[in-house]
Amino acid sequence: MDVIRIEGGHPVTGEVSVEGAKNSALKLMAATILAPGVSTLTNVPNISDVHVMGKVLKRLGASVEVLGPHSMNIDTSDVDKWETPYELVAKMRASTAVLGPLVARFGHAVVAMPGGCQIGARKIDMHILGLEALGVKFDIDHGYIHASAPDGIKGAMVTLDFASVGATENLMMASVHAEGVTTIDNAAREPEIVDLANLLNEMGAKVSGAGTPVIEVEGVPGDLHPVAHEVVGDRIEAGTFLAIGALTGAPVRVNGFEPRHLGLVLKKFEQMGCTVERGVRTCQVSRSGPIRPVDIQTLPFPGFPTDMQAQTMCVLAMAAGESIVTENVFENRFMFASELDRMGADITIEGHHALVHGVSSLSGAPVKAPDLRGGASLVMAGLVAEGFTTVSNVYHIDRGYEGYVDKLVSLGAHIERHSVPDDEEDQD
Ligand code: EPZ
Repeated sequence: MDVIRIEGGHPVTGEVSVEGAKNSALKLMAATILAPGVSTLTNVPNISDVHVMGKVLKRLGASVEVLGPHSMNIDTSDVDKWETPYELVAKMRASTAVLGPLVARFGHAVVAMPGGCQIGARKIDMHILGLEALGVKFDIDHGYIHASAPDGIKGAMVTLDFASVGATENLMMASVHAEGVTTIDNAAREPEIVDLANLLNEMGAKVSGAGTPVIEVEGVPGDLHPVAHEVVGDRIEAGTFLAIGALTGAPVRVNGFEPRHLGLVLKKFEQMGCTVERGVRTCQVSRSGPIRPVDIQTLPFPGFPTDMQAQTMCVLAMAAGESIVTENVFENRFMFASELDRMGADITIEGHHALVHGVSSLSGAPVKAPDLRGGASLVMAGLVAEGFTTVSNVYHIDRGYEGYVDKLVSLGAHIERHSVPDDEEDQD
């Protein structure tokens, strides 16, 4: 297994470009099921979750041809199976994104129930309730969800209890051939939802309202047609590197994403005393004075993104004062804080709230990545900690960050990745 070792205290500054968004690419890949033929996706991040989604599609009978590090052809002409096995869903919850497309194209889907993960129960009850409103029948048997639409899919009004990203996506994809119009109320508004809606419309679907709380899908007859589509830039990867600019103060510029997709995050960086320079598909963050404490509440977009909670908490851990971070989206997304405390941070967890009492310095230590964003944030902490930090369980980071260490080296970080014998590697 690999570990990442960082020597803190060296200047980290310069310019990086981010990849396509993990949280869009995975769903765009699933959506190609709706369009028999060869679709081409570009600006696809070269990360392990994308490789797993490729395996899911191949298990269904699709062919996935990697054209280069960031582009692929997906041919779904011969998709003839409808089952997504547990070992793939357990590896990656986003595998459930094939549920909607399979039901829309074939009227059947068998998807393993996703287990919980480090950050929460990750249920899919809203997916199921919404699809049932469209006429989909469900049986849950031996840990698998058997979905079928014996009488076809009928357009309906669906109101989500919570603006769930995954439920919104599955409902959009499931309703592209529904009889009549489907309205999704309290829909998720994330930029990745808009990217998926754009792809579906390019394929011949009729989706309107993406990016607003009310999405309408007018069912169209016959299959959708394959397209070429570029994945939207990854706002969370961008936010991670910009948070490094907030943390160390030295300017970090990030290219390849839309700053408006990080609206509230950048506003919070400014409240923390940072200088934020927004441009077209580029943004720079720097800081000269002390980090000012601010309060953060994670919420669905355009609220503060939960996927930027750990990175921002890392910056607040060195603020001149106390901040309160409230996690409203997941029930267990503070494990990063307990690892950061081992590096000298002073964070107290009270239910959904973390009280972050800023400290003047952190000290390097061996720490364990608890999840994708927590792992990336522990590496961030290592950049400013005194001495050496070793982050293990880095496979979490590989799920969503392409070339994280290389990009940090290009910014001047003293960081390297190496293998250690398995017995030295803590297991989750
Ligand atoms: C997506 O997860 C992202 N993953 C997550 O990013 C992101 O944190 C999340 O959206 C919120 O923005 C991908 O896109 C692959 P939800 P998703 O459905 O779709 C509960 C990262 O680090 N819920 O909006 O699973 C759920 O348990 C990852 O890149 C139900 O209870 O998120 C969670 O507490 C982490 N029942 C909350 O709602 C349901 O049927 C939000 O979930 C669905 C969700």
